[in-house]
Amino acid sequence: MILPPATLGMLGGGQLGRFFVMAAHEMGYRVMVLDPDPHSPAGHIADHHLQTDYTNTQALDRMAAECAAVTTEFENVPATTLAYLAKFVAVRPAAEAVAICQNRMAEKGFLRQHGLPHAPYAEIHNETDLEATGSTLFPAILKVARFGYDGKGQARVANRDEALAAFRQFRGEPCVLEQMLPLDHEVSVVLARDETGRTATFPVAENSHRKGILDVTLIPARTGVDLAGEAESIAVTIIRKMGYIGTMGVEFFLSRGRIYVNEMAPRPHNSGHHTIDACVTSQYEQQVRALCGLPLGETRAHSSAAMVNLMGDLWYPAGSHQAREPDWARLHAVPNLKLHLYGKHHPRPGRKMGHFTVIGSDPAAVQKIAMEARAAIGIHDE
Ligand SMILES: Nc1ncnc2c1ncn2[C@@H]1O[C@H](COP(=O)(O)OP(=O)(O)O)[C@@H](O)[C@H]1O
Ligand SMILES: [Mg+2]
Repeated sequence: MILPPATLGMLGGGQLGRFFVMAAHEMGYRVMVLDPDPHSPAGHIADHHLQTDYTNTQALDRMAAECAAVTTEFENVPATTLAYLAKFVAVRPAAEAVAICQNRMAEKGFLRQHGLPHAPYAEIHNETDLEATGSTLFPAILKVARFGYDGKGQARVANRDEALAAFRQFRGEPCVLEQMLPLDHEVSVVLARDETGRTATFPVAENSHRKGILDVTLIPARTGVDLAGEAESIAVTIIRKMGYIGTMGVEFFLSRGRIYVNEMAPRPHNSGHHTIDACVTSQYEQQVRALCGLPLGETRAHSSAAMVNLMGDLWYPAGSHQAREPDWARLHAVPNLKLHLYGKHHPRPGRKMGHFTVIGSDPAAVQKIAMEARAAIGIHDE
């Protein structure tokens, strides 16, 4: 067991890393963050910020020497970085697990191998692969295998010609071509597994997206007990089969009453932000616990919750090019609303700047209050 005041290492310095630092600090740990960005939200509040590249072996050597264990907050950490660190210090999750989650082909292959439900897809390495795909896949989404996020590196394509054009636009990067499913709902499960193999699952969250980016998360999900139970049990199968240690997010599609795994994140998940305010243990505290070999915390939601993401667009009202600070006082006036801002210096459209969570006992009332606050701060559906 790693106990305070040990230093923990965090690869990546975004908002997920920042919440990890906050949880670790509350528990008495110190944190060393590695992120090249001088303004990184986590680096800013960490005890040490190694402001350098992920492949800088001098920095990695220092991290290995000073940290009792190392984890990550984003999936695109080079697998070689994790493998290098693992020679000297405990790295959780392991490089092999992160490698699966950071490549859509490996991820889909993992699901296929373990008989877990996923959208029909084809691997596209070249134009010949595209010509060979069955027409039943269309309409489809072409997704680059690596480095896509928040809907980036994705193109919706109606037929093979459009797919070919998109593949060329992605400059022939390896892709998966995935059948477009009619979505009833999207849900996610955040869960954790410790080194003894015990797992703990947070309540299933219901997610809605805007421009390919998470917009609103509701707890409990309005999907019925059966599908929620199925999502949880699939997530547990995934984390076990991967031998994963740490906090993981699994995204699902519900389509025509059936469930499909969309993707896995080897880290806490945006749809788990509400756990800070609505659950006995937050997903970030859980990440600290799993990393340090502490018993996993209780995941029960003590409240219903609605989480709203605050994107950089909010700083630019109605086509304005001049950024202005949103009217935070309006949010603070709402009872049971918890505002979290990530301390990012530059608001950019599409950039995650913060979120708020409304908690309460009645799910419908919580949702209504959150959506009214969302409109009041200036987020409107087109
Ligand atoms: N096969 C699909 N069918 C229907 N909608 C999809 C499909 N794939 C992606 N989407 C939509 O696009 C969003 C982003 O896709 P996702 O694969 O999760 O990429 P990201 O890494 O950007 O989160 C999903 O949450 C969903 O709303
Ligand atoms: Mg996603």
